[in-house]
Amino acid sequence: MASPPTSCRLSLLLVGVLFSAAAATAARFAPVDNHLLACGAPDPVVLPDGRRFVPDSGCASTRLRSSSPTPPLSSVAPPGSPPPPSPLHESARVFSCHASYDLAVRRRGRHILRLHFYPFAPALSASRFHVGAGGFLLLHNFTASAPVVKEFLLPVDSDVLVLTFVPEAGSTAFVNAIELVSAPEELVGDIGTLVASGGAAQIDGLSAQVFETLYRVTVAGRKVTPFNDTLWRTWVNDGQFLVDTDPASYKAWSFSGRIAYPKGSRQMTREVAPDNVYRSARSVRPGSNVTWGFPVPAGNRYLVRMHFCDTVSKALYELYFNIYINGNLAVKDFDLSSATGFLAYPYYIDFVVDVEDEGVLRLAIGGLNKSRSDEVSGILNALEIMRMNKTSGGMDGDFPIALDMEYVVSKGIGEFARSLLCGFVFAGLFVALVMLVLRLRTELRNNGTAWSWKAMDSGEGKLARAYQLVPSKTDY
Ligand SMILES: *[C@@H]1O[C@H](CO)[C@@H](O)[C@H](O)[C@H]1NC(C)=O
Ligand SMILES: *[C@@H]1O[C@H](CO)[C@@H](O)[C@H](O)[C@H]1NC(C)=O
Ligand SMILES: *[C@@H]1O[C@H](CO)[C@@H](O)[C@H](O)[C@H]1NC(C)=O
Ligand SMILES: *[C@@H]1O[C@H](CO)[C@@H](O)[C@H](O)[C@H]1NC(C)=O
Ligand SMILES: *[C@@H]1O[C@H](CO)[C@@H](O)[C@H](O)[C@H]1NC(C)=O
Repeated sequence: MASPPTSCRLSLLLVGVLFSAAAATAARFAPVDNHLLACGAPDPVVLPDGRRFVPDSGCASTRLRSSSPTPPLSSVAPPGSPPPPSPLHESARVFSCHASYDLAVRRRGRHILRLHFYPFAPALSASRFHVGAGGFLLLHNFTASAPVVKEFLLPVDSDVLVLTFVPEAGSTAFVNAIELVSAPEELVGDIGTLVASGGAAQIDGLSAQVFETLYRVTVAGRKVTPFNDTLWRTWVNDGQFLVDTDPASYKAWSFSGRIAYPKGSRQMTREVAPDNVYRSARSVRPGSNVTWGFPVPAGNRYLVRMHFCDTVSKALYELYFNIYINGNLAVKDFDLSSATGFLAYPYYIDFVVDVEDEGVLRLAIGGLNKSRSDEVSGILNALEIMRMNKTSGGMDGDFPIALDMEYVVSKGIGEFARSLLCGFVFAGLFVALVMLVLRLRTELRNNGTAWSWKAMDSGEGKLARAYQLVPSKTDY
């Protein structure tokens, strides 16, 4: 392709500079709905990113309902284990029975829901449960055997979102923290490109789907933490996901200039991805591929968002590359300059892919020989992989799990007996925790590590005292 005349290029550059100056003064995103709950915590928790999580009991816009008493439990991580990565992990709410949070919704529409699980006691890592939101099953038969944050993007079309925890028979459910935040409109569009072995085709209806975030990756860049992300996301480095790639076929780049978010654009804003994510990239040589592989559960449909921002070229129209997903050609001869019109201008493409038995998503950029440079032919700055819901009832399909609280609240004799039983299960867990606390206390006397005692009697349960671990290092 011929490049535009120099004067035209100059004016394009000028416009780009103006745009970036305007973007730098952009205001921070202020979500209409912003529930930040520290579950079971006695006091508000303030994270290093500045967000304040309030205790889940006695909060005006949140109501916790349960068919059994649910006192808050405080962290009793076994002695010698590393301190929790976040102050949010010091406490949890443990449910022995069906329980729900009613979260007031001021603006209907797409929301981000994050559930933090930090199993600090063996009883928690063994617990098996289901989580639903608005009658939709998000987590089925879930076990948090390792610390994890589950993030969902879901449409909410009621004034209250009911978040339900249902323990499996004989088990409990727990959660350490909950975030429900209004998502900016532009975060998920309606149209994507469906990539299959037969080719690529346009697909719509994406805005009605529910998404679970599996991977959020900044290519060749340092980890981006919620502190530096406009929507409090975490982006990890891509190094561990590179597969079948000869180091000679790529080059890592970083850029310290301005990212030119288009002024006034409804689609491409800092909330889609922050500057730091676009400032790094990996390029591919002409005639080579760079491939990333991501293990994913088979039998699902995925949204793959690939982010591009040409921070490596000296001029427009230098990059020409192919994009492959699971070996299928998703975009042929991709010309980023024609798509954006500017350098350092962020752009993304949403692909939809069905993963059957492979259980892996392989994404590749393939450099083309028609590129000007014999070094750099294509780039990738970031990528996100989200699992889509299987049915209109749940992420994993339909299961006969009663997510509706009224079902439990309307008590018959049987229900009454069940709630008594739940009380016993809870008592058992409580005894186990007290024993752990006692053991920890003994250990502490013996080796005097930096743990602090804290009196704690908020919440319905009036737990007399519990240990709190002072974190030394955090990820938030
Ligand atoms: C949950 O998983 C366990 C172990 O795999 C299984 O025994 C149980 O039946 C499952 N429960 C449901 C409701 O699928
Ligand atoms: C935020 O980003 C800046 C600039 O890249 C970096 O220097 C800083 O360490 C980051 N802070 C955190 C907490 O990640
Ligand atoms: C592209 O260039 C590379 C290196 O110069 C060469 O090995 C390869 O055969 C070329 N591919 C095509 C399709 O021309
Ligand atoms: C790049 O990957 C695609 C898809 O897997 C494959 O068809 C193509 O031959 C690869 N090109 C090179 C140069 O390895
Ligand atoms: C996913 O859930 C949404 C909302 O319940 C529904 O409209 C959509 O049809 C579901 N997707 C599939 C593939 O069933």
